[in-house]
Order: sequence, then structure tokens, then C-alpha cells
Amino acid sequence: MKHIVILASGNGSNAENIIRYFQENNLDAKVEAVLCNRKEAGVYERAAKLAVDTIYIKKSEFNDPDTLLPILRKKNADLIVLAGFLLMVPDFLLREYPDRIINIHPSLLPKYGGKGMFGHHIHEAVVAAGESETGITIHKVSEICDGGEIIFQVAVPVASDDTPETVESKIHILERTHFPAVIARLLSTL
Ligand code: GRF
Repeated sequence: MKHIVILASGNGSNAENIIRYFQENNLDAKVEAVLCNRKEAGVYERAAKLAVDTIYIKKSEFNDPDTLLPILRKKNADLIVLAGFLLMVPDFLLREYPDRIINIHPSLLPKYGGKGMFGHHIHEAVVAAGESETGITIHKVSEICDGGEIIFQVAVPVASDDTPETVESKIHILERTHFPAVIARLLSTL
């Protein structure tokens, strides 16, 4: 059995979708825990409803190997999945889990990535630039913000009457459709 640990900071719709996917399909893998750095995040309720352990870990603890690594070892983490996680991943974690930390980014990287490019800022920038398409990128996490090796991308058209909100809905559909399956494929190679 492979163990996934999800890191999240907010609403948690991706976390919930990933948890459900591995609970509902017979894939010899499961989400073992969700770690979150924001107390008021919606992800706790979503994970708890599905009987998955949630752990609040504040930024200073997340950056402390003596706090974070024992938690991940106890959960036997094979893969760490960032789903709406807004902190930079510390170097010690990259060294401990090489090629085993992935992130989803709601644009076609390298476009609309990097510092300050998160959540609605991305979709606003895409619409303001008059892009004809956007999409999602699933990538390995490296020391460069949104700069790790790309594992998967899929695009969706942006229409002239799209708004940041309608673009966001399109992105959520792509995330729901593809993220869990990409994780499953990656796990089968580990
Ligand atoms: C998603 O669009 C994800 O791609 C981005 O932040 C959003 C998180 O949404 N990194 P949720 O917390 O999974 O609902």
C-alpha cells in the first residue's frame, strides 16, 4: 500500500477529490493525512468527513525538520502532494523526498507562474492578457517556485466573454478530472 500525504492551505476541493478517488478505486494507495498551515482552512472539514487525519502545522514548524520529518515518517509518506499549498517547500524536504513532491498549478506553466501567481491572481492575469487558452500543470517541486519538471499539462480555451470566475470554474473541472489519475500513474512508477 502506497501512502500519500497532502499539503494544503485553503478550501481543499482538490484534497477532497483525491481522497475520494483513492477511497473509491482499488489502487493499493491511499491518502494517509492532510497537513495544513492555516487554521481557518476548509480542508480540515472535507478530510475529516472522509475519515482522513488532518494536522495543523504552522509555518515555523513546517520549516523545522525536527517537527515535519517525524510526522511524514510516521505516516509512511511515499508521495507528497501539494494541493493549493501556499508556502515554499524547504530544502530539507526536497532532499528527503527527491522526485516525490508534486504540485498542481492552475495555469500552463511557465506562463503565469512564480511569486505572487496564485489563486484568482492567475485567472485575472490570463483574462487581462486576452489569452486564448489556459490550463493546469502538474509538476515536480524544486527549489524554484513553480519551476520543477512538468509531469502533465492540459489546456482549455478561454472565450472572449470569459471572466476570472468562469476561467476558474473551467480550471476546477480540469483539476477534478485529471489530478487524481496523474497521481495514481505516478505512484505506480515509484
Ligand atoms: C487550485 O486551483 C490549485 O490549482 C491552486 O489553488 C487552488 C486550490 O483549490 N494551486 P482547493 O484548495 O484545492 O479547493
